[in-house]
Amino acid sequence: MAATKKTDSPDSQFYKPADAFFPAFNNLGLTFDDITLATLYSEILPRDTQLDTQLADGLRLNIPVISSDMDTVTESRMAIAMALNGALGLIHYNMPERQQLSEVSRVKFHVQGMNQEPIKVSPEQFIGDVLKIIEERKFSFSTFPVVDAGGKLLGLLSGHVVKPRYAKRKVAEALTPRTQVQTINKRELGKDPIARADKFFTEHLGIHKLLVVDDKDHLHGLITLSDVERIAQERNAQFKPARDANFRLICGAAVSATRNAFGELDRERILNHVGGLVERGVDVVAVSTAHGHTKGVGDTVKMLRDAFPKLPIIAGNVTSGDGVEFLADCGANAIKVGQGPGSICTTRVVAGVGIPQMTALYIASRAAARKKVSILADGGITKSGDIVKALTLAQGVICGGLLAGCAEAPGEVLEIGGKLYKQYRGMGSLAAMKSGSAARYGQDKADTTRKLAAEGIEALKEVAGSADRVLAQLIGGIQSGMGYLGAANLGQLREKARYIRVSPAGQREAAPHDVVELKTGS
Ligand code: XMP
Repeated sequence: MAATKKTDSPDSQFYKPADAFFPAFNNLGLTFDDITLATLYSEILPRDTQLDTQLADGLRLNIPVISSDMDTVTESRMAIAMALNGALGLIHYNMPERQQLSEVSRVKFHVQGMNQEPIKVSPEQFIGDVLKIIEERKFSFSTFPVVDAGGKLLGLLSGHVVKPRYAKRKVAEALTPRTQVQTINKRELGKDPIARADKFFTEHLGIHKLLVVDDKDHLHGLITLSDVERIAQERNAQFKPARDANFRLICGAAVSATRNAFGELDRERILNHVGGLVERGVDVVAVSTAHGHTKGVGDTVKMLRDAFPKLPIIAGNVTSGDGVEFLADCGANAIKVGQGPGSICTTRVVAGVGIPQMTALYIASRAAARKKVSILADGGITKSGDIVKALTLAQGVICGGLLAGCAEAPGEVLEIGGKLYKQYRGMGSLAAMKSGSAARYGQDKADTTRKLAAEGIEALKEVAGSADRVLAQLIGGIQSGMGYLGAANLGQLREKARYIRVSPAGQREAAPHDVVELKTGS
């Protein structure tokens, strides 16, 4: 049936657009579970929806999700996984500045499908040593490049000779010599190494491994046919990796409004740090603090805007229209909205401040529209439905807890009572502040005269599998929500959303109830 608009429909009396709905609750802070979205006539299948979002000139994501700049969420492994899925990772700043620069480099130099640190063997080793390494490290492969002490390629040790019967032979006797090994100079890989390697494998019948070398014949990587074939298939996937103009994965980094010993903004240090990040190819910096509507954050954003006119800048956090306008006027392109909604946050308990997230997002979104900047819903997101609700007002979401259990998040897996967990802590927890994030909360980690007041807790998250898997589920949920609203893209989602408040009984009704749950939906 066609989308007829009935004049006597009660829908419009109950299901209100944002500008009618939120002002009607102007004395009440609402968060995700307090509201629900009305379904609308749809001709849109979830799988046909587009999720790309423009956060700033020169910063476009293929899916509107950002991994939080927290020390238990985003380092290079998570940032790589996020960008490969079309999203963005913000590398945290609880590490020495030099280390953060190399984390960014790891993302920018990551070549999907190329192992940049392949396991090598030396000509002096015995085949028996190689067999031992394979067993100890549980390798599923037995072919290795052979290099000298300086990293120069000498040949390839083929799996055919890595057998116990040759255990006493030296690698030097068994290797396929350099002259017979197929290689490619890394310069020849060009902008799209996988396409180049794909062509190479088609042209070289029976070759399954391609070694990448430089002009001095030093080994730089290994590309395998099976990886190239897998990636070629993935290229048909709907959501492509998020890349820069040079085909490198995109990456963001958090910076703090650092102060010197006199309590003044340490301009030189901040500028040097961001200059280093820009040299490494960072795509966006995030000036991350708990209170963004402050002189210190404003001055930092202004200084960065003047020094790096084209660099996309995220800044925050705020929960007011004035805060958004202030940061936009200082030069920020995207503004983080959220004070105290995070799963590990105690800001509202400790400081008595903060605004429930949907109300904060509505207020911020109206100021952002006036200033032509985007907003990011930061914190409190526990399920894909929350993301759909947030995206009716924001251009993207920032997730901490939802990603902290992934294999790509920093930290070891802990086994407790037969269950597997990873550590997840607030950047305002005592432990995190002592590792460097105190400035984010307007405190000084070296301040021993008074106790740091924690605004976050240390917690555990159950292991959640790979970021690919978690993101696939979130994307599925977002697309499903868009299908229900007949929204083909995120712009239409923002336009079409109609809200209604949910009663406590309605909230109980929304989750599984009156059953014994055997399996969760995930
Ligand atoms: P979720 O709910 O995704 O929230 O786990 C992550 C966001 O929470 C913020 N954050 C904090 N807020 N105290 C706070 O009040 C903290 O210790 C803290 N650590 C992180 C941050 O915005 C993050 O993206």
